[in-house]
Amino acid sequence: MVETAAHHNNRPADSILYPFANLGHLAENPPISIEGGDGVYITDSTGKRYIDGQAGLWNVNVGHGRREIKDAIKAQLDRISYYTIFGGTTNTASVELAELLCRLTEPEGMVRAFFSSGGSEAVEASFKLVRQYWRHVGAPRKTKIISLKRGYHGVTLGALSANGITSNREYFEPLLPGFIQVETPHLYRNPFTDSHEALGKLCAELLEREIQYQGPDTVAAFIAEPVQGAGGVIVPPENYWPLVRKICDKHNILFVADEVVTGFGRLGSMTGCRHWGVKPDIMNFAKGINSGYVPLGATMMNAKVSDAFVTDDTAQFSPKAFHHGNTYSGHPLACAAAIANLKIIEDDNLAGNAGRVGAYFIERLKDVQSRHSIIGDVRGLGLMIGVELADPETNMPFALSLETGTRVSDYCKEKGVILRNLADTFIISPPFVLEEAHVDEMVDRFEAGIASVEGFR
Ligand SMILES: Cc1ncc(COP(=O)(O)O)c(C=O)c1O
Repeated sequence: MVETAAHHNNRPADSILYPFANLGHLAENPPISIEGGDGVYITDSTGKRYIDGQAGLWNVNVGHGRREIKDAIKAQLDRISYYTIFGGTTNTASVELAELLCRLTEPEGMVRAFFSSGGSEAVEASFKLVRQYWRHVGAPRKTKIISLKRGYHGVTLGALSANGITSNREYFEPLLPGFIQVETPHLYRNPFTDSHEALGKLCAELLEREIQYQGPDTVAAFIAEPVQGAGGVIVPPENYWPLVRKICDKHNILFVADEVVTGFGRLGSMTGCRHWGVKPDIMNFAKGINSGYVPLGATMMNAKVSDAFVTDDTAQFSPKAFHHGNTYSGHPLACAAAIANLKIIEDDNLAGNAGRVGAYFIERLKDVQSRHSIIGDVRGLGLMIGVELADPETNMPFALSLETGTRVSDYCKEKGVILRNLADTFIISPPFVLEEAHVDEMVDRFEAGIASVEGFR
């Protein structure tokens, strides 16, 4: 007999080492096995349906089971499933996607794409790109990468070295030398000020002071997420990104935007940077680039960076080549999926929908906050929303052992709504096809979940 998913569901934790999960916890709380998906809904192996409040892992932005993407993948599969773009071969899907990405990021000035298989790889590629760039233009001492505390850039050792989340870093230290983190402008939790503008200015100044301290001629790039995601959905003050761009220009430092979560609509604008009208030198994309139907990452660059790799040296093997690549760079199935996915986002104006429905979602959550003192903060932009629980007396996080957030999340799951919590911060990132009626259902469940834990503190 062929074993079905339902059979596997009886022993889910035995043979997988799950990412970021405690096997002891999973043994007591077996993961639900997701076997189906349709739009904003997912279905488990028992047939129970849930609203997917995290869009997979903030990536299934156009929703589950989209016919257009499945058809595009199948059509590509019928031509050829894979061929390398190393060493003199390419394929139509990757060329078409690169052209499409350049068109979509024209306002940011991107002119060329490097392909990989996901967010961490896209970030790694951007670090190697900036280091080789500075060697090409005669500034080989510019190697250091500055990032933000609470930033998340992936898990490979280079990307992890730029991560500013202690619990991601501490088990793997020492990390790479030459990576430095500076203060993030976090309005809800900072020791400096309650003023948006003052905080934006102060954190930009702290970045500049660090650049001066390190020596600008040793700093290659500054990398950050337009809105910090895994760090807790931290939306910077309006003045922060424009100030950062100015500082990078002043000290001749490349500005890398990690748009792995924010890219292609999540904040209500096609790119995160566009919300602030800021043009980075390099942009990293993954996740929403093809809604996760096939793994894909892309590192885009502007003409300044690209031009350093375009030379009149015609030798096949040259120091001028970008000395980096992945087997799955330009994977035709992933690229075909991305072309179909981005067409849906453009044709259906899903970025606009994310902005509109996201604003409604935040408004409804703020209303819930007014009735429940354990909700410390509601923040977000578009469909990237954070809700932080805190002790109303001290405004400090609850003891981890209370598992307050987990109990709320479990309650919602039981009622058919998936809401992801990182300790006591909810990270809400549903598909862009979400409607107001879905929001109402999610918020009602969430409020009931909050009420269910309030009495047990
Ligand atoms: C901003 C950001 N960059 C990079 C990554 C790493 O992406 P991946 O998990 O695909 O390697 C993530 C993943 O969540 C992310 O949020």
